[in-house]
This record gives sequence, structure tokens and C-alpha cells, in this order.
Amino acid sequence: MAAKILVVDDDPNVQRLLQYTLKQEGYDVVTASDGAEGFRLWGAEAPDLILLDVMLPKLDGYQVATKIRTEEGTTAHVPIIMLTAEREVEQKVRGLRAGADDYLIKPFHPAELMARIKSLLARFAPRDALVGRPPLGRVQVFYGAKGGVGTTTIAINAAIALHRELGRKVCLIDGNLQFGDHRVFLDLGLDKKSIVDIVTAPSIDQDLIRQVLVKHDSGVDLLLAPPSPETAELVTPEHLPLIVDQLRGLYDYILVDIDKRLDDVNLGILEVADTMFVVMTADLSCLKNVRLVLETIGHLGYESGKVQLVLNRSNAFTGINVKNAEGALKRTIDHQIVNEYRGAISALNSGAPFMFTKADSLLGRSLLDFARVIDKQPVAAQAALATR
Ligand SMILES: Nc1ncnc2c1ncn2[C@@H]1O[C@H](COP(=O)(O)OP(=O)(O)OP(=O)(O)O)[C@@H](O)[C@H]1O
Ligand SMILES: [Mg+2]
Repeated sequence: MAAKILVVDDDPNVQRLLQYTLKQEGYDVVTASDGAEGFRLWGAEAPDLILLDVMLPKLDGYQVATKIRTEEGTTAHVPIIMLTAEREVEQKVRGLRAGADDYLIKPFHPAELMARIKSLLARFAPRDALVGRPPLGRVQVFYGAKGGVGTTTIAINAAIALHRELGRKVCLIDGNLQFGDHRVFLDLGLDKKSIVDIVTAPSIDQDLIRQVLVKHDSGVDLLLAPPSPETAELVTPEHLPLIVDQLRGLYDYILVDIDKRLDDVNLGILEVADTMFVVMTADLSCLKNVRLVLETIGHLGYESGKVQLVLNRSNAFTGINVKNAEGALKRTIDHQIVNEYRGAISALNSGAPFMFTKADSLLGRSLLDFARVIDKQPVAAQAALATR
């Protein structure tokens, strides 16, 4: 069946041209001339993709995208390409924040438009085709061997890569209960719901959890940390395993960003996790901590492969290279993320993760490589089991 594309543009010439080009490529096309009509047709026609002009009568493109994203909730996602006349980065970021997946600056070449359409349809198709397949339900914990090594940066951007680049359904939990940073990294206010809204409810079920999750513009669903440190103690060691267990039935990946305490809450979540990524940098105090963590974790009897080392800022000059670090730890470093301080800090300070707005930067590509390796792991593990 041909994919259906909704074109929302008030310029009859652009409309005609797009209709002609898309039909030639074998797509079904529906058109709307203003934002309100575009929004209505999204509901009535259930298109596979939307080409959305920014400057539109009634509702502008940003408003249409925002309304669609709010309406479709966490279970669906129609790919949207914004068509904009403006070149400014500002406009691009605004479009992406409103919920667009991609954007094109007018005038554009039809070949480029087709390439973008095909890539987006492919990115979102697997999930459509997989409706009915159970989610992978993999739980992956990100643990910093030391404060400030980049654990949150890696967890957030890996979540976005897994979702936007690899088409997985992803839930990201801020498990740093006292001083969670996700609201800052993702530009979200203290008014957004948090894990406190779950643990203070009379009973915990999937419906409740779904209501508390916050949808980020990137398409990743978030379970935020309490808004203040004193409410963190409402979360007991039993809560996170219970919540994660419910989320396994809804998501391919549940990523949990935790702080470095090996207390009952953190040990509880590690117990139910499939993988623990220990994030480190190449310095002596970090190496000491990693050694201690590996020793402590060693007593817990996890199977090998559950604990994996991630060396962040791997190419930064610290006087200790990867080989030295591996020698000191007597084990291999499983993953490496490149050093790019400017990219990382400016993303943090603008509340727009680099994987969302600068996926093709050095750091973005490094994170995507990491996400690809993660995503291949379960398949490999299943294959190993199947051949036994
Ligand atoms: N690959 C990288 N290259 C350069 N700088 C990075 C990289 N990853 C993270 N950073 C920077 O390191 C700092 C700490 O990052 P982040 O908050 O993610 O670390 P953390 O381990 O979660 O810290 P905390 O202990 O406070 O939770 C930030 O300024 C971030 O921009
Ligand atoms: Mg952190």
C-alpha cells in the first residue's frame, strides 16, 4: 500500500508542485491550505507523514505540530517535516521543539525532499510493522564511578539516539533522586510530574505510570526525579524495581541514570537491570572508584557482560590512555565516547541535547555508535541462547 502524505501549505503553487512530485514517486497525497485544516486532516486521514509549512493562516506550523504531538500522546508518532523559508538556527530549533522530526529550507530540491521522506518513513516504519510485537523491555542503568564524569549526558543522549535514530520506544528515568538534573538538561520546569506522583499514589499500575511520564519533544518519555531533595526519601528500595517492571511491558529500552551511591535504592535497581554501564573518565580517582565498584559488584554474582565500562571523553589528554586504564583495571573498556566539551556544555546550558539538535556533530556520532552497539547486544545475546 502506498504511504499517504499530508501536505499543509497555503501557497497553491507549492501545493501543486508537491502533489505532482509526490504522486510521481507513488505516494498518496492529501492537501490542506491552512493550519486548522491540516490538523483536522491529520485526524481524519491518518497520514504516514506530514509536510508542514511554517507560515500558515489560522494555526502556524509550530502550533499544528505541537497540537498533534499533544493529541497523539505517547503511543503514536507521525513523522513531520517542517518547510521553512528561514535559515536561522533559531527557527530550526523551534520547529524541532514543537515536535518536527526534520526540516527543509525553501526552495529545496525535489531529490532532497524525497530522500528525507524516505529516511523518515523508514525510521518510523519498523515500529509500525512491529505493532503487536512485545517491546524488548531492556533495562539499562547508567552509573557514574565519580560525580561529573558525564553519566547524565550519556544517558540522555543515548536515549534520544535509540529513539530517533534507531526507532526504539524509550523511557528515561532520572534515578538521581535527590539532585536529578534531567529538568535542566531538557529544559523542563518544576511543575512537571515526577516519580513522587507515583510512589504517593494508593497503588501503582501502568495507567498511573503513563499519566506521570513526561513526553520530551524528541519522542523519549521521561520519568523525572522529585522536584526537591527532601521528597526523594519517599522513594523506597522497592519502588523503582516495581515501576521498571511495569515499564518493561511498554518500552524497548528503559534507561536509568543513577548517582554513585551503592545504597539499597541503587542496588535494588541494579538487581533488576539487564546491563549496568559504569561511566568513567581516565583519571586516578576514577580508576580507584571503578576498581572498588567492580569488586563490590563482583560479590553480587552478576553474569559477566552485565557490567560494562564506558570511558567518557576518551581522547582527552589526561596522561592516562585507554591502554593504561585497561591495564590498571585488568579488564577491557567496553565503550568509548569522544571528548567535546563545548558541544556537551552548550547543549546542557541551552536545554537542547546535542543528539536532538546536532546529531551529526562529533559527539552526536560518537553517541550514535554507542547506541548502535547497545541495540545490537540483545540480538546477539538472544542468538547465543537460541544456538545452545
Ligand atoms: N563527552 C564529553 N566531552 C566533553 N564534556 C563532556 C562530555 N560528557 C559530559 N561532558 C561535560 O561534563 C560535565 C558533567 O556532565 P554530566 O552532568 O552529564 O555528568 P554526571 O556524571 O551526570 O554528573 P553528576 O555527578 O553531577 O550527576 C558537563 O559539563 C558536561 O557538559
Ligand atoms: Mg548526573
